[in-house]
Amino acid sequence: MPKNSNRIIIFDTTLRDGEQSPGASMSVEEKIKIAKAFDDLGVDVMEVGFPAASNGDFQAAKEIGKILKKAIPCGLARATKSDIEKCRDSLKHTKQFRIHTFLSTSALHMKYKLKKTPKEVLELIKESVSLARKYTNDVEWSPEDGTRTEPDFLCKTVELAIKSGATTINIPDTVGYTMPEEYFKTIKLLFDKVPNIDKAVVSTHCHNDLGLAVANSLAGVKAGARQIECTINGIGERAGNAALEEIVMAMKTRNDLMPFKTGINTKKLSSCSKLVSNVTGFPVQFNKAIVGKNAFAHESGIHQDGMLKNKKTYEIMTPESVGVIKSSLVMGKHSGRNAFKDKATELGYSNLDEKFINKAFLKFKDLADKKKHVYDEDIIALIDDDFVKHNNAISLVSLQVFAGTKGPQKAIIELMVYDKVKKIESTGDGPVDAIFKGIGKIYPHKCNLQLYQVQAVTQGTDAQATVSVRIEEKGKISVGQAADTDTLVASAKAYINALNKLIIKRTRTAPSPDLSVSA
Ligand code: KIV
Ligand code: ZN
Repeated sequence: MPKNSNRIIIFDTTLRDGEQSPGASMSVEEKIKIAKAFDDLGVDVMEVGFPAASNGDFQAAKEIGKILKKAIPCGLARATKSDIEKCRDSLKHTKQFRIHTFLSTSALHMKYKLKKTPKEVLELIKESVSLARKYTNDVEWSPEDGTRTEPDFLCKTVELAIKSGATTINIPDTVGYTMPEEYFKTIKLLFDKVPNIDKAVVSTHCHNDLGLAVANSLAGVKAGARQIECTINGIGERAGNAALEEIVMAMKTRNDLMPFKTGINTKKLSSCSKLVSNVTGFPVQFNKAIVGKNAFAHESGIHQDGMLKNKKTYEIMTPESVGVIKSSLVMGKHSGRNAFKDKATELGYSNLDEKFINKAFLKFKDLADKKKHVYDEDIIALIDDDFVKHNNAISLVSLQVFAGTKGPQKAIIELMVYDKVKKIESTGDGPVDAIFKGIGKIYPHKCNLQLYQVQAVTQGTDAQATVSVRIEEKGKISVGQAADTDTLVASAKAYINALNKLIIKRTRTAPSPDLSVSA
């Protein structure tokens, strides 16, 4: 795509870089669900995984490649023959596919990570890009840590990659270190110094370690880049990647300064954000631009007054334009218990017991006293919160574990289940298995454990562990998380948290219009 075109290619990497977020790994089925939604959203290229990384990644790439209707599937590969061939094998059943291969080019990475000289790196670029080009005419090449690469060497690598067959050159700000004016200069440098740059599309790939990923991506576009790599909700390694929804809406809303267009149907942004949050279990921060719960909420009286007179006073884009169905004010302090119950049913909570309704109704009344406008989202949050925080069906009372080399490992667990304390002893194949089996004995359920992941929050043996657990029951997926200095206690709590959420999901039989992708 020439530098003077105003069409920006949206390259979504939620399923690859996004999935690299600690705790965000997704099953093949979940990836397919997301891929379908993103295809519908209108992304141009979808990085569907890193096929050489695991069997799951390979399968996901293969399956997704088959179902995409508009987006071009792309797989990531290191600069090795086996990675590139795995990538080809996973995508070769599709009409058109892209291989994205990369290699570090900064002095730091070449010396310590690759242990290679610049000359060896150049040789590898030539080999890997040429090989990829044998399998497809759509090849992307990235100099990893590109923004910290010595400028002349960066130009040399880019020129060589294009000469070897790359059709897209992506410049990663791998560690999210760059400032917008620097990123602008780096992209401009390529257009000024690389003689064959007009034969490739230049792309941005910015990480958010300093909160500058979106600003840097837009600076890259101003300098001539015509592809942006990004993820929904900005998920990704460490602080994440540039957020797709922010980039797209920034260009749409400030088209006077950023006269570019994308193929994104912005009305689907909100549902895609919810889908990703639901699948990964990563909540969207309330004040997150575009897709946060509060992004279109006007709380203060002055703002509400302005909004009633003219929405443009406080809204730079409409909630509808990003797919947020703003339920006008539907409930207020004069609404009665039956109206509240009807509203809850309309929002999908059809099996709530009367005791729960009574409690939730009192909370709603409190809220309506404080808040003039009570929206559907407020009611959903109130009901979910009440369930999860105060009405947990299950909570951990105590846990004692016997582990070590002499099995079987044993757990003595005491749980509070609907106000009754129950205690049980169970054994298992390892302490975590013993704990999970014990919970299953006290509260019988038939779930598949899809994910169990432990992460240290800080360093050292006394670090807090955050455990993520994902369970599935009849297609309903629930993700639980908990932190504790004792990994086994965190494991028990995370499992119980997932189970409590699942119990809530069981009660919500019909999704509300705005939650159509969740539940
Ligand atoms: O951030 C990065 O450098 C990457 C590359 C693999 C493109 O994700
Ligand atoms: Zn990245």
